[in-house]
Amino acid sequence: MMACGTSRRNKKVLLYLIFCVAYICLLYSWTGHLKTRTKNGTSACSSSNHTPATILLWHWPFGKAYPLNGNVCWNLYKIPGCKVVDQHSEFLNADIVVFHQKELALKKQKLPLNLARPLGQRWLWMSLEAPQNHGNLSQFANLFNLTMSYRRDADITLPYGELQPQDGEIEDFSMNKTNLLCWVVSNFKSRHKRSEVYRELSAFVKITVYGRWKNARLPSASLLPTISRCYFYLAFENSISKDYITEKLWRNSYLGGAIPVVLGPPVEDYKAVAPPHSFIHVDDFASVKELGTYLQELAADRERYQEFFRWRQKWKVKLNTDWRERLCKICTKYHCLPQQKVYSDLDAWNNG
Ligand SMILES: *[C@@H]1O[C@H](CO)[C@@H](O)[C@H](O)[C@H]1NC(C)=O
Ligand SMILES: *[C@@H]1O[C@H](CO)[C@@H](O)[C@H](O)[C@H]1NC(C)=O
Ligand SMILES: *[C@@H]1O[C@H](CO)[C@@H](O)[C@H](O)[C@H]1NC(C)=O
Ligand SMILES: *[C@@H]1O[C@H](CO)[C@@H](O)[C@H](O)[C@H]1NC(C)=O
Repeated sequence: MMACGTSRRNKKVLLYLIFCVAYICLLYSWTGHLKTRTKNGTSACSSSNHTPATILLWHWPFGKAYPLNGNVCWNLYKIPGCKVVDQHSEFLNADIVVFHQKELALKKQKLPLNLARPLGQRWLWMSLEAPQNHGNLSQFANLFNLTMSYRRDADITLPYGELQPQDGEIEDFSMNKTNLLCWVVSNFKSRHKRSEVYRELSAFVKITVYGRWKNARLPSASLLPTISRCYFYLAFENSISKDYITEKLWRNSYLGGAIPVVLGPPVEDYKAVAPPHSFIHVDDFASVKELGTYLQELAADRERYQEFFRWRQKWKVKLNTDWRERLCKICTKYHCLPQQKVYSDLDAWNNG
């Protein structure tokens, strides 16, 4: 009896010991993992003590060239270690060659497949359009090493706008409203999901529409002042795809000072980039009618309405519109970019 009891206890102790050792090992490997991560994170991406990277833009997006005199990235954006050029004669010196999708698709420009690519040179595919507008990219398999897009999973992410800490005067956009809900639309297509939601919604609330579609084109100088007189703005994207959040949110709504009612990628995509409590997502409502009722209630409730402006005490919006700044951004990421990478199926990535 005695012996049996002891051996049972021993077994228990042994099991307990094994468990402890396993636990310690697991803990140890996890902290080790964390350590390597932090180490790589801090050292791999610093841009000091490196020779400047040469970024060659093969053709200007939409055929519109910007001057690149002097050290553009430093002079305009205080980004060091970056040389942006647009002369094809720099091909052999370029660390990264940038190609904008639109001109390749229209066959206005061609890839320099006749030139031998210097060892280590990387080709970058760039576009800010939604995937549906890229066409068939299978011809570009095994050519590009990097992607630059508004997508968060691109090698370099170029959002249409971003947040910066508020450091200036905060404009009170919550006052002086005369229209409940506004929309500026030039490219109206009834097959767009947004057109259907607009039509349904307009049965419940008054929507003031501007733009080419209604023959009420706004001169660019009056776009934002006009929107500022609206409680809400329809920031409806024409293509629904992940992370595709354009100037309809960043410029029209946030800079205009109307609360955006968004239709586009899922709420999570907005939450990842937009300020908290700054927008109303169409998907959050069981019906368009409920959305309409909510907008009317909110406009009538000063306090609740103003809560949507509170983020402005902390954040301000910066638009990214100059292609030079976009190109310079490559250098801020240069030392964290994957060293060896090929997009063997760019079309699949585009549709992914
Ligand atoms: C850290 O960098 C080393 C060498 O550069 C690499 O082998 C390793 O995979 C990296 N680890 C992580 C977690 O990125
Ligand atoms: C894209 O083009 C490739 C060859 O050029 C073709 O095999 C493929 O079927 C096309 N894909 C679509 C969706 O049209
Ligand atoms: C509201 O409108 C009045 C008159 O147009 C103007 O003086 C005032 O500055 C506006 N207030 C805000 C917060 O925009
Ligand atoms: C870039 O892509 C090309 C074409 O697939 C490939 O041969 C080359 O090894 C890649 N270079 C780097 C640095 O990833």
